[in-house]
Amino acid sequence: MRSAGFLLPLALGASGAILYEGATIISFNENDERVSILDDASMLIDGDTIAALSEGTIDSGIPGNTTRVNATGKIISPGFIDTHTHLWQTAFKTIGSNTSLADYFQKFGEYGQSASVFTPEDLYLGQLAGSLERVHVGTTTVLDHAHASWSREGTDSCINGSADSGVRTVYAHAIHEVAGAWSWDEQISKLQSLTKDDRFHADNGLLTLGLAYDRFFDAPASNLSTLWNITKGANLSVVTTHHLGGPWGFTNSPTALHSHGWLNDTIPVVFSHSSFLNYKDAQLLRETNQYISTTPESEFHFGHNHPHANRIQDQASLGVDCHFTYSSSMVNQARMWLQNLRAGRYLNTLEKWEVPTNSPMSVEQAFYLITRAGALSLRRPDLGTIQVGSKADFVVYSTDSPNMLGWSDPVAAIILHADVGDIEDVIVNGAYVKRAGKLLYSNYASLRSRLTASAKRIQKVWAETEWPALEGSLQNGEGAPYGPTEIIDTLRGNGTGY
Ligand SMILES: *[C@@H]1O[C@H](CO)[C@@H](O)[C@H](O)[C@H]1NC(C)=O
Ligand SMILES: *[C@@H]1O[C@H](CO)[C@@H](O)[C@H](O)[C@H]1NC(C)=O
Ligand SMILES: *[C@@H]1O[C@H](CO)[C@@H](O)[C@H](O)[C@H]1NC(C)=O
Ligand SMILES: *[C@@H]1O[C@H](CO)[C@@H](O)[C@H](O)[C@H]1NC(C)=O
Ligand SMILES: *[C@@H]1O[C@H](CO)[C@@H](O)[C@H](O)[C@H]1NC(C)=O
Ligand SMILES: *[C@@H]1O[C@H](CO)[C@@H](O)[C@H](O)[C@H]1NC(C)=O
Ligand SMILES: *[C@@H]1O[C@H](CO)[C@@H](O)[C@H](O)[C@H]1NC(C)=O
Ligand SMILES: *[C@@H]1O[C@H](CO)[C@@H](O)[C@H](O)[C@H]1NC(C)=O
Ligand SMILES: *[C@@H]1O[C@H](CO)[C@@H](O)[C@H](O)[C@H]1NC(C)=O
Repeated sequence: MRSAGFLLPLALGASGAILYEGATIISFNENDERVSILDDASMLIDGDTIAALSEGTIDSGIPGNTTRVNATGKIISPGFIDTHTHLWQTAFKTIGSNTSLADYFQKFGEYGQSASVFTPEDLYLGQLAGSLERVHVGTTTVLDHAHASWSREGTDSCINGSADSGVRTVYAHAIHEVAGAWSWDEQISKLQSLTKDDRFHADNGLLTLGLAYDRFFDAPASNLSTLWNITKGANLSVVTTHHLGGPWGFTNSPTALHSHGWLNDTIPVVFSHSSFLNYKDAQLLRETNQYISTTPESEFHFGHNHPHANRIQDQASLGVDCHFTYSSSMVNQARMWLQNLRAGRYLNTLEKWEVPTNSPMSVEQAFYLITRAGALSLRRPDLGTIQVGSKADFVVYSTDSPNMLGWSDPVAAIILHADVGDIEDVIVNGAYVKRAGKLLYSNYASLRSRLTASAKRIQKVWAETEWPALEGSLQNGEGAPYGPTEIIDTLRGNGTGY
């Protein structure tokens, strides 16, 4: 099941520390919560930690066996943090290119036919490939809403896929009622055993366990108290839930969680989307210091949208959601969100017949959402920034390609100009997972051919399935009827080109 040769990351500090010199480093100042740019700077990594950081050279406190890296002309950025995704879904790559969210629920979500079609092998491969896709784009921490939890073996396969990838993962195991899958009691028993599973207690701390649950709005109180007992008893790393509101329903709102006593606690809660959250929900997030995860491209692509989520970006991090349908790059997500928020605020002024004078959002704010805010949403202040004492999770950008020439502001260079090809090295927990532009996962050729075969088999099943038309109203929604959207016309004359 598991690849024979999984990742053996090159530890930077196992037998010697490493010193980067000459770089532009995007550091951070906690006093004002702003980035702090260090020019011609040095950074010492010892083990899994950033041990020293300074402009110019570092002369003292350098361990004997330290490797020096000349990073002149490079930009060193904190690794990016993705706070909402479903890593198992890789095999659907490109077949959801034009689906609405209602389509998604029917075809690609946790309640459809996936539970009976995906084997544990498919899940392992999808999870591993989805995780490596994150490494490739410079994401060093991911919160996985892991809802391919339809059986013991499938769950274990997903966890193994995450463990083998080398990316820091908060694995939020989903408890749900899926027809034909395991019972509530079996799920609770598996969750209890996961709290003691060695894979979540490794010395490197890369993989931690959380809970994903989507029925706060209607579950019996006894179910919730069973889950809270386990969550609190095992001090799980996170609770995460899909929250939409509006015509969608899925009202797993801050208000709902607060009414059950889950919100105002030490355990972080991440609300994905929170598209239509209301004013009181927003106030509760601020009072309890909990976060939403806005997934910009997903919310555009599927149509959740974010009419009110855009008003609570002071308690927000960003996520990718379904990497089978769009970019898994957090930088792409930040860029898209930045320009969308700008467009909306500009429009507010233009609608008043006024000419906007200033830009409503800065690149630094966009960068903050995919770094520091992601870490705070997980209550991990040791992640998401480059500071002495932080975990050594970072990305080294080359600035040699034409799109980067002429840069002076490293944050603008990353948010607006860089692409994945500019990423040279990715380091997680002091170990290279990508180096000189290449993933270090050792069995990639085998993974590629096995994942390709798995995707081909699964996509054939999807192509041959007859999908009933969407009629009436969304299942588990609040009764709002389905309605059509207006199709865009991109062809001259007759036809639309859709
Ligand atoms: C020094 O570090 C290098 C690379 O990390 C390693 O190959 C070598 O064995 C180390 N030497 C000693 C004496 O620890
Ligand atoms: C570091 O690299 C730069 C650019 O390639 C070069 O100009 C410089 O001489 C190098 N410094 C050292 C100490 O090797
Ligand atoms: C939507 O995309 C899928 C996959 O690319 C394609 O098979 C399907 O024909 C498209 N649907 C429409 C209405 O164009
Ligand atoms: C997961 O990996 C462990 C070793 O860490 C192995 O014992 C187990 O069989 C694997 N589970 C599956 C379902 O592949
Ligand atoms: C609540 O728990 C019961 C078992 O006690 C289970 O049958 C039911 O599916 C659960 N409901 C939800 C919404 O989790
Ligand atoms: C969980 O339930 C057990 C047994 O009822 C109880 O002893 C324990 O205190 C509970 N733990 C929490 C965190 O609620
Ligand atoms: C729970 O875990 C967090 C993060 O590791 C830790 O800071 C906190 O002290 C733990 N709380 C308890 C009650 O063990
Ligand atoms: C959260 O708990 C703190 C400390 O127990 C309390 O002061 C505060 O009022 C609570 N906030 C809410 C929104 O319940
Ligand atoms: C467009 O459709 C109309 C009405 O069906 C038809 O008369 C006309 O020839 C079509 N034009 C082209 C360019 O196909």
